[in-house]
Amino acid sequence: MAIGVFDSGIGGLSIHRELTARLPKADFIYLADQAMTPYGGRPGEEIVELTRAGCARLFAQGCDLVILACNTAAAVALRRLQQTWLPDHRRALGRPVNALGIIVPTIEAATGVPWEHEAERRGDKIERLDVLGIFCTPATAASRVYEIEIDKRSQDVAVFSEPCPGLAAAIETDAPEAELRRQIEAHVAALTRRIGRPPDRAILGCTHYEITAALFRQALPPGTPLIHQPKATAEAAALYLQRHPELNPGHGGGRRFLTTGPGGRQNGLAERFWGEPLVFEPV
Ligand code: DGL
Repeated sequence: MAIGVFDSGIGGLSIHRELTARLPKADFIYLADQAMTPYGGRPGEEIVELTRAGCARLFAQGCDLVILACNTAAAVALRRLQQTWLPDHRRALGRPVNALGIIVPTIEAATGVPWEHEAERRGDKIERLDVLGIFCTPATAASRVYEIEIDKRSQDVAVFSEPCPGLAAAIETDAPEAELRRQIEAHVAALTRRIGRPPDRAILGCTHYEITAALFRQALPPGTPLIHQPKATAEAAALYLQRHPELNPGHGGGRRFLTTGPGGRQNGLAERFWGEPLVFEPV
């Protein structure tokens, strides 16, 4: 039994690194759908089907819990799969499995309130609007999940999503740093123009972007707080496992890395981020 971590590519490693630090004894299987990456410009139905196939593969490998370490998959596919596919799949497997996303813990961290807490519309005068910038894929931006869910919980936060087409693919293919910097600076500038000032806080709402967090920090005004999606996710996953002892995360400290792509060593950017060589097994 193990915990599965799923992303279209190397981006989910940013979540995986925090998960393994928080749950060192658990067995982990990371799956990158590198044959189909990037997801962020695909139609919704395709993202749902690719995410379903990734979860099914991880459950078949023995995972009891799958973390969708991909905002795009979590925003577009998770609710659909939880409602329409997982109940039947659980019955077919004959064991209690589940899939969780990374958006709920991120929104909890951004609003400071638990997910169940939907704010009453009090109509009080808002003293100061807290402007939150979300850098994400076009599919995540189109889902408006951050705008809708934050608005339900916090009336004094204004959310502006900035779709960054092509950035996840550039990170996935180890584009030169100058190119990544150019794209990131252009998106920070575009968001700043749209808001009329820089955001007060930001979320790197695509797990690939966390790998280039230093470039985002340099492009944003110094000291702009970044809500740390990997930490929020790892903490939420650990609490979830405490509440669900029927899900077995394994206890051998195993680490496997699978890819639907050709396999082998990962790109320099991913390995520098990870801190050691990373060899993926093709599946
Ligand atoms: N890393 C993913 C995310 O968090 C997907 C990026 C992509 O495949 O476009 O959205």
